[in-house]
Amino acid sequence: MPTLRLAIAGVGNCASSLLQGLEYYKTHDLARASGLLHQQIGGYRLEDIRVVAAFDVDARKVGRPLEEAALAPPNCTKIFAEKLPSSEVTVQMGPVLDGIAEHMARYPAERAFRAADAEPVDVARALLESGAEVLVCYLPVGSERAVRHYAEACLAARVAFVNCVPVFLASDPAWAERFRAARLPIVGDDIKSQVGATIVHRTLARLLADRGVTLDATYQLNTGGNTDFLNMLEHERLANKRVSKTESVQSQLDERLAAENIHIGPSDYVAWQKDNKVAFVRLEWRGFGDVPMNLELRLSVEDSPNSAGVAIDAIRCAKLALDRGVAGPLEAASAFCMKRPPKQMRDVDATRALDSWISA
Ligand SMILES: NC(=O)c1ccc[n+]([C@@H]2O[C@H](COP(=O)([O-])OP(=O)(O)OC[C@H]3O[C@@H](n4cnc5c(N)ncnc54)[C@H](O)[C@@H]3O)[C@@H](O)[C@H]2O)c1
Repeated sequence: MPTLRLAIAGVGNCASSLLQGLEYYKTHDLARASGLLHQQIGGYRLEDIRVVAAFDVDARKVGRPLEEAALAPPNCTKIFAEKLPSSEVTVQMGPVLDGIAEHMARYPAERAFRAADAEPVDVARALLESGAEVLVCYLPVGSERAVRHYAEACLAARVAFVNCVPVFLASDPAWAERFRAARLPIVGDDIKSQVGATIVHRTLARLLADRGVTLDATYQLNTGGNTDFLNMLEHERLANKRVSKTESVQSQLDERLAAENIHIGPSDYVAWQKDNKVAFVRLEWRGFGDVPMNLELRLSVEDSPNSAGVAIDAIRCAKLALDRGVAGPLEAASAFCMKRPPKQMRDVDATRALDSWISA
């Protein structure tokens, strides 16, 4: 039986959904259950994924069994797996670095991060000891130093890296080269949800171009009530997130919009929404005879399972690349799974490129 040994950095809502998904699809008929893009990638099914290490910094997660930490506050995503099995993994203390924004302290503990009072482990050594092959990075937006710390540890411990955070590594030529030189694959950056605001917005922008009309202006305003949205209230942490989301839409247009005519980003934190994310999207264009027209839509999704459905594929692609001896940024997997890949593709092309890479 092939096994994929996975490490997780950041046991937040996305990690919780990922772990729940691993359990959910074990007990549901795959032919009837929705939400799984690929039953197998390179021979790896979901039941072949075994979590062997996990890192966090929150007092309610560090030192706890992974299956308990995944459901501990401030995680607030929907619970769709009846019970998480015992994983025999204890969440280890990572280095906090810039992982926790200062303003978290001003919000109630059940909704915000609280650092554990524990010594951080040596992440590279912990990875080596666990036998991890792939690490999925789920740190908060703006954790530039912390994400790089886990990437360095992966380089040292020879572990492939799946970067779900808008800290630019796979899309940064210098970091890409470091992974290539170390003969390790990297998939990144910033996970794209399965049916989320980004892909809907990209698809509509592309549709307008394909139908011969000129997009004049657009926005995407997002609200949510999870710690991801709370974290993003600090605008300095947001710069890369805005770039990543905006470029993801710009990349689909024949002609780029001027900066003042495109506004995309997390817009506000609404506590009671919890892990429900609502996106308000507006596109304005001129049709035949330059006559003005517009479209408005409201999209409501559960944020974390929406991204876990894609991460589960990115992780298996990283392992398949390891098996094949493929190193550096995985172009097709990153274009399909991530908002800020090293090379942007049209979504239909990314789907085709990924499927042909998997079956090569
Ligand atoms: N649909 C989605 O949910 C989606 C889409 C795109 C990108 N992302 C990105 O994925 C990342 C994870 O999202 P989430 O919703 O799980 O966030 P979250 O806030 O629920 O979880 C982040 C976790 O990281 C932990 N953490 C903070 N600093 C750390 C450190 N130094 N070392 C180890 N752990 C640390 C926190 O304690 C928390 O458990 C975010 O950057 C988010 O923007 C999510």
